[in-house]
Amino acid sequence: MDQIVIRGGHTLKGRIPISGAKNSALTLLPCALLTDEPLTLRNLPRLADVDGFGHLLNQFGISTTIEGSNPGDFGRVMTARANKITSTVAPYDIVRKMRASILVLGPMLARAGEATVSLPGGCAIGNRPIDLHLKALEALGAEIELAAGYVKAVAPNKGRLPGGDYTFPVVSVGATENALMAAVLASGTSVLRNAAREPEIVDLCNCLVAMGAKIDGIGSETLTIEGVADLHGATYRVMSDRIEAGSYACAAIITGGELDLVGANIDEMEATVAALRETGASVEMVGDAMRVSANGRPKAITLSTAPYPGFATDMQAQFMAMLALGDGASMLTETIFENRYMHVPELARMGANIEVRGRTAVVRGVDKLVGAEVMATDLRASMSLILAGLAAEGESKVNRVYHLDRGYERLEEKLEAVGADIERVSDG
Ligand code: EPZ
Repeated sequence: MDQIVIRGGHTLKGRIPISGAKNSALTLLPCALLTDEPLTLRNLPRLADVDGFGHLLNQFGISTTIEGSNPGDFGRVMTARANKITSTVAPYDIVRKMRASILVLGPMLARAGEATVSLPGGCAIGNRPIDLHLKALEALGAEIELAAGYVKAVAPNKGRLPGGDYTFPVVSVGATENALMAAVLASGTSVLRNAAREPEIVDLCNCLVAMGAKIDGIGSETLTIEGVADLHGATYRVMSDRIEAGSYACAAIITGGELDLVGANIDEMEATVAALRETGASVEMVGDAMRVSANGRPKAITLSTAPYPGFATDMQAQFMAMLALGDGASMLTETIFENRYMHVPELARMGANIEVRGRTAVVRGVDKLVGAEVMATDLRASMSLILAGLAAEGESKVNRVYHLDRGYERLEEKLEAVGADIERVSDG
């Protein structure tokens, strides 16, 4: 397994290109199932999960081709065409490695009248149930059956879903995405209430509309979808990754530097920007980039994660690393996932002073962190260790960086270009 070695203490300064959003790409790719015409996605990030999803689509008989970047984009262009579906089953050996595979359930059900997907199981940050996905699809008229570790969804007479009205008891990004992709080809109109409002949901709605879907309330918590008989192909550009941008913003602050995040969209990350400014940093759009400038040691702040437009749970670990060197005691409360503090013991090995009490972590700022060998446990935890390593005195080694490769494209390259002393060591 690869390791990333960082020799800390360098102030970062320069421009970092922000890639296409992982969490948008993973819900746009299954949209290819909804039409027999080609769907071309631009600005796709070069990430393990994106390649994995392409492989999953091939399992269903979908052809995929990948080309280089378009001018002005950093990501790749993938064209997927589902002109014939040869299988409606997402097998265990693929789903267990990429839980986002569950996002084929809705679109496959809508296109083929049935879909069978291995249950994704949990991961390091929580048990990740899919009950809301299933309840939403049932409300749209699907029959759901659970057997032998698989979930099978069937439309009446294996035809079109009738559509329906569903109120989510808990905001769920993935369940909203699955329900949206199921509803667009229904024979009737559907209403999704208390739907997730993340920018990635807006990106999905905009792509579906580009394919001919009829959706009202985009960006709000109530989505009304008038089903249509067919969708056509489209070419759509994936939004920039607001979590990658927020992560590198923390890198600027923790190293006392200044970074221009090219392609970041400040309007999609208001809560993150407000929190960055509360630590004393300055954040402003300068041309095509969001400029983040440190202003001395970050001030201590209090944060609680929440569904969008609240502070993103995917930014919690990165802020914790930055606030570990803060001026005073910060309070972070994780309200979305039950086990998203796996980075705490690893940060503590670098000298951080963090006390977890239930869902809240008290982060008492220390004057310095000291480089150490640490273990990545999940995607955002691994980024928090990279951030700590950038600021720590001496050398840090981050193990199990395959976690990192799921969400951060060309990380060492991007950081080295702005002054970090960082390299990937492959033990292969
Ligand atoms: C998406 O996961 C993201 N993943 C996550 O990003 C992100 O942290 C999360 O949304 C919240 O913003 C992708 O988009 C691929 P949820 P998802 O359904 O859809 C509970 C990252 O680091 N829940 O909004 O799985 C669930 O347990 C990843 O990029 C149910 O109870 O998140 C959680 O407590 C990590 N039943 C809460 O809802 C369900 O059926 C929110 O989960 C579904 C979810």
